[in-house]
Amino acid sequence: MSAPKEAWSSRLGVILAVAGSAVGLGNFLRFPGLAAQYGGGAFMVAYFISLLLIGIPICWTEWTLGRFGGRKGYHSTSGIFNALLKHPAAKYLGVIGFVVPVIIYMYYVYIEAWALGYALNALMGNLSIDGKDYTTFFANFTGAGSDGVAFKFGLRDVGIFVVIVYVVNFFFIYRGISKGIEMVCKVAMPALIFIAIVILVRVLTLGTPDPAKPDQNVLNGLAYMWNPGDVAAGLKNPQLWLAAAGQIFFSLSVGFGVIITYASYLRKQDDVVLSGLTATAANEFCEVGLGGLITVPAAFVFLGAAGIVGQGTFGLGFNVLPQVFASMPAGHLFASIFFVLLFIAAVTSSLSMLQPGIAFLEEGLGIERKASVALLGLMTAVGTMFVWYFSKDLKALDTMDFWVGTVMLFVQATILVIIFGWGLGIKRGFEIAHEGAEMRIPNIFGIIIKYITPTYLVTIFVMFLLQNV
Ligand code: PFF
Repeated sequence: MSAPKEAWSSRLGVILAVAGSAVGLGNFLRFPGLAAQYGGGAFMVAYFISLLLIGIPICWTEWTLGRFGGRKGYHSTSGIFNALLKHPAAKYLGVIGFVVPVIIYMYYVYIEAWALGYALNALMGNLSIDGKDYTTFFANFTGAGSDGVAFKFGLRDVGIFVVIVYVVNFFFIYRGISKGIEMVCKVAMPALIFIAIVILVRVLTLGTPDPAKPDQNVLNGLAYMWNPGDVAAGLKNPQLWLAAAGQIFFSLSVGFGVIITYASYLRKQDDVVLSGLTATAANEFCEVGLGGLITVPAAFVFLGAAGIVGQGTFGLGFNVLPQVFASMPAGHLFASIFFVLLFIAAVTSSLSMLQPGIAFLEEGLGIERKASVALLGLMTAVGTMFVWYFSKDLKALDTMDFWVGTVMLFVQATILVIIFGWGLGIKRGFEIAHEGAEMRIPNIFGIIIKYITPTYLVTIFVMFLLQNV
């Protein structure tokens, strides 16, 4: 192996890096969008069950397998699976761990560029006209191809922002694990939580802004998002279970091959059990505690339920929210810090999508970091151009997010737990997990990882197939 030895420089650093990967657009846009769409109560039941049966077990699986692989000098899922199973086919099983995050990067980074562009446009006052049609602004902003010009580069066009986010991501990925990713996350994560709390306080103190519409107040906004509704009926919908499980994957960044790669840069005796749980808890705080209380309640207060229904994740963030901020006093400031928040959250996530690719290219092709960064940059840039060009259709992005961000993940996640529970075996797996650990994995998780998680994954997946085929 030609790769130089890299490692996280501190325990807090790696926890913040994993939390940074987890906390992203998923927390502030995807989660609220889904919870509102499926009805807060039923969705949350399925969501917490998925957290227990998928999120936490796979998180521990990835931390453990990653550290195990790292000790043997491997950082890519292919290399790690191969080291574990010692079978030629194992390499190919690991390829999804490279493909999925790279594909997600291609469109995730594009939305990251929207966030940066919106932050700047908000600051310049381009998003603060009450009653303006922000759907048109958005269409023009992303408007690749609408007027025959594929890629435009003005303040009101996404182009320049795509270039900037690429430079930012590849600069830090080039600097490496501790000097790049870890350094960014140590600064970005506290900043992100601070900004989110400022926005949350603003939303929770909105009261009833329009006395003519007394129903549109904060409490009703929270109720709209969180009212349990008819939980039993909701839970009968297989699509809801799939969406909840998909959100757990997406939000915690589990099942992608990202955590396994990050954990491979741990030092030999670093704890994995408590660290994994801490990063998970940080994500849940940002998702349910912050994301869940900001986006949808704010939209409800100004626009009522009618303004939210049917908007989808991206519509909510980029069509509805600008309108919401425009109706608030000092809205342009809140809008810009909200979009800065989205941007920061997105950068720490997109960096994590690149690292598995770098590890794969370094190990698979035996090339150096510099060359793998260049190669990955080229590959992803071509992908993002496609996304950019075809993005007029928001539904297309939603659909792509669904197939790669949900369906392919099920396959990868099932492979991961089976390798841990059956390939390595729970006893041996837990022994490895417990080396250097500051807490033990409760025994019940042995049964969960070996039997319940794979069954749960396969059941949800089959239910979904039966519905959709
Ligand atoms: N967890 C990120 C979010 O919630 O926005 C998204 C993400 C990060 C997905 C890393 C996949 C991944 F590999």
